[in-house]
Amino acid sequence: MHTTYIQHYDIIYNTEESIIGALQKYGPVVSFERNGSREYIVDNEYTRKVLTEDSLFSFENGMASLLGINWLLGLHGGTFFRDIDDIMKNFLARRLVNIESKVWPIFERGALALSKASSPRNPIDMLPYAQSTMAEVTTAVFFGEKYMEPIIIKAVVALASDTAEMTGLFQNRSWLAHEVPIVWRLWTWISVVLFKIPLHFGPKFAWRLWSDIKCRTADDSDKDDETVISYLVNRYKSSNGIVSLGSKLWIFVLVLASILGSVHQTSTIMVWATFFLAVHPESQVEIREELIKITEQHHGSLRGPLPDIKKALHTDSFIREVLRMKGDTVNVVRASVRDVDLGGYLIPKGASPTPFRRLGYIVLFSAGLTVVTLGSLVFPVTRLSYRSPRYTENPNKFDANRWVGSGKTAATTGLGYLAFGYGKWACPGRFLAVLEVKYWVLALVKCSKFTLKGGRYRVLDGWNVTAVAPEGRLLIEPYNDPSLV
Ligand code: HEM
Repeated sequence: MHTTYIQHYDIIYNTEESIIGALQKYGPVVSFERNGSREYIVDNEYTRKVLTEDSLFSFENGMASLLGINWLLGLHGGTFFRDIDDIMKNFLARRLVNIESKVWPIFERGALALSKASSPRNPIDMLPYAQSTMAEVTTAVFFGEKYMEPIIIKAVVALASDTAEMTGLFQNRSWLAHEVPIVWRLWTWISVVLFKIPLHFGPKFAWRLWSDIKCRTADDSDKDDETVISYLVNRYKSSNGIVSLGSKLWIFVLVLASILGSVHQTSTIMVWATFFLAVHPESQVEIREELIKITEQHHGSLRGPLPDIKKALHTDSFIREVLRMKGDTVNVVRASVRDVDLGGYLIPKGASPTPFRRLGYIVLFSAGLTVVTLGSLVFPVTRLSYRSPRYTENPNKFDANRWVGSGKTAATTGLGYLAFGYGKWACPGRFLAVLEVKYWVLALVKCSKFTLKGGRYRVLDGWNVTAVAPEGRLLIEPYNDPSLV
């Protein structure tokens, strides 16, 4: 296997050329250094193997190590990812059935606020609008009406951005992370976990959550009003109805982790979808026409003019195409659990840290922050899959309607569509996420048409296209009467 040095600048700003160029030049498995760590990129012929063979590659260690949350795997018997997965697959799946009438008005309000805030002289950054809309929607979905207060929504926005910072989503753009990664990791951990999170939580939200956990323990939960808290309390209470202090604290951790990740991730994809709409005005027209059709059909309903989202097939196809084409080079990771032979190339079990890192591990171990032995991080180069003619005809063309009638929705995973990962660990929040992005897109074209200032946006971190929103300013022209769909 070839070991190469890829410039930090190229990893962020020339990602496609530098990463794919390295595979073309040196072969299907290449090792390189990023932020002080030796990592591996592999060609798409190994993607299935890396993502699905659990005996060789671990999702949990890979994700924990990438996000710098190895210490979480040292708590509660290492069940963190399995517990979150359980919440998504059980609580969320049930909840999805009856949330449509609750979340559509929130998206409508968010889109209207964005369209009213822009003017020809004031091209606008949409990210804060996407974030606060998502914070409100996530609060409604996970906690229910009782939590829908401005102070709590504000806390969720701030905490989501703290979580994104803590998990290193912006590290590629930090000088400290690149030059002295261990100091950056320690500093971020201390400043976010010890200061920002407690500050942004605030007494009101923290107390509301805590007393909710306590009072749900006393009562038997009401099935019609199931929230993530009642679901978890039921799951963790013992046969005599008591939830131990340890489990209460664990519920706290799980609730925060599951909602905060989703707010940041989905708002980022809302920005991607909006920018693609802005540069494809024909899709705005088509999706608006679809909205009229699926809303009219629903008019007789007692719930009012709620779009029948299952019928939004063009919108769904558009979203799948945006997720495929937005330009990821890598977006999934695994860690080797033993020495792995990949087509004759050896990926070692242990990451081989640079001297700086080695020193850092000693510091982190003694601070109790790293409790899991790290494997080597392996990134299948997903760009090669998204753009492979093996999976998609004419793969480099953006074709918004190519998935209509294909039997593949925006949430259907596959080797040519890795936006939500693949295999056992594929994103369990994807059905909710796609529903949310669909509602956002529909709400936006309902009230406005829009373009991008200068007709373009800027990718801020080519290594992290999925998790770091592109930068651009929207020029929005609201319709005079948005209710006239
Ligand atoms: C459009 C937005 C989203 C995108 C693009 C996305 C993407 C991904 C990707 C690529 C993975 C890794 C899968 C793998 O390695 O095979 C993942 C995992 C995960 N995602 Fe998402 N995600 C999104 C929204 C959400 C939402 C809304 C939630 C929760 C409500 C969520 C919860 C999770 C969880 C818990 C995992 C860990 C895997 C597991 O527990 O099985 N995601 N996501």
